[in-house]
Amino acid sequence: MKAYSNLLVPHPFPYQGSKRGIAKDILPHVPGDVQCLIEPFCGAGAVSLAVAANGLAKRFVLNDINEPLMKLWVEILERPDLLADHYDRLWLAQEPDRKEYFFKIRDAFNRSHQPHHLLYLLARIVKGAVRYSSDGFFNQSADNRRSGMKPHTMRLNLLCVSRLLAHKTQVHTGGFAEIAGTAGAKDLVYMDPPYQGTSFTRDHRYLHGLTYDDFVDALIEMNEKDISYIISYDGITGNKTHGKPLPEHLALKHLYIHAGRSSQATLLGGNAETIESIYLSSALVERLASEAEKPVRYDQQRQQEFSFV
Ligand SMILES: C[S@@+](CC[C@H](N)C(=O)[O-])C[C@H]1O[C@@H](n2cnc3c(N)ncnc32)[C@H](O)[C@@H]1O
Repeated sequence: MKAYSNLLVPHPFPYQGSKRGIAKDILPHVPGDVQCLIEPFCGAGAVSLAVAANGLAKRFVLNDINEPLMKLWVEILERPDLLADHYDRLWLAQEPDRKEYFFKIRDAFNRSHQPHHLLYLLARIVKGAVRYSSDGFFNQSADNRRSGMKPHTMRLNLLCVSRLLAHKTQVHTGGFAEIAGTAGAKDLVYMDPPYQGTSFTRDHRYLHGLTYDDFVDALIEMNEKDISYIISYDGITGNKTHGKPLPEHLALKHLYIHAGRSSQATLLGGNAETIESIYLSSALVERLASEAEKPVRYDQQRQQEFSFV
C-alpha cells in the first residue's frame, strides 16, 4: 500500500473535526481512477485537499449545509488574494483590544454573513469549533490567548488551496444526501458527518442536526446505486467507543486509524489515544480489489497526471 504524508497540504482555516491529521491514512483507500471526489460534509475539506495535492482526482465537489461557510469557499477558490487582503486588514485592526474586536466582527458577520468576517472568526474561535444559537446566530467565543493565524501564513494557505482546487471544483450548499447520490461509477464520495456525540443529538456545534436514521437511509440508497464511498465515523478513545455502530446490512468494510491524541479526544475531555473508524462501501472494496490486479496500469496513469500539474 502506498504511503502518503500530510506535509505540504495547505489548509484554509482551523476547523473542529478537520481530518487534516488522518487524511494521509485515508488516501490509500482512494482508487486510481477517480474522476470526481465528492465531499458532502466538507467543513475545511481536508481530504479533498490531500487528494488534490496528491493528484488522485480530476474534479471535486465540495458541499456543506453551512451556507456562509460555502460562500467562504467560493472566495477562497475564486478570489484568494482579495480575501487575504481583507483578512490582513481585520487581523491588524484587532489590536489593541482583540477581545472587543472579535465581538464587533461577530456582530457584523451575524448581520451580513460576509466571507472575510467568517474567516476571521474561524481563525480566532475556541478550538475552531463553529457554534450557532438556535436562532441561527454565530455565538462561539474567541480564544483570547491567541491572535489567530498570521496574515502571511493565511495568504500562503489561501493561495495554495485555490491553486489546488480552483477551476476543477464545484461548490454546493445543502443537505449531504442530494449531492452524495449524484456520484457516478468513476467517482468517489468521502463523508465525514458530524460527530455522533454532537450533531446527531441536538447540540449546537454545527448549523443543523442530522439523524442517524436519515444517514443510514441515504447509505442504503447509495448502495443500491453501487456508489463508491468512504465514511469517517465515530471512533474509540481509550476503552470508550463513541456512537452507534453503522448497521451490518450496509455491508461496509470497517477499518481503524490510529489518530493519536486528536482534537476529538481533547473535545471528549481525555488524554487517551483516539482510534478513528473509516468504513468503505462494497462498491469501493470491489473497485480497489480489481485495481490491485492491474497495479501497473494505474500507477502509470497517476504518474501521467502528476507530470501535467
Ligand atoms: C466533522 S465536520 C467535517 C470536517 C471535514 N472533514 C474537515 O476535514 O474539515 C462535519 C460537517 O458537516 C456539516 N453538516 C452537518 N450536517 C450536515 C448535513 N445534513 N448535510 C451536509 N453537511 C452537514 C457541518 O456543517 C460540518 O462542517
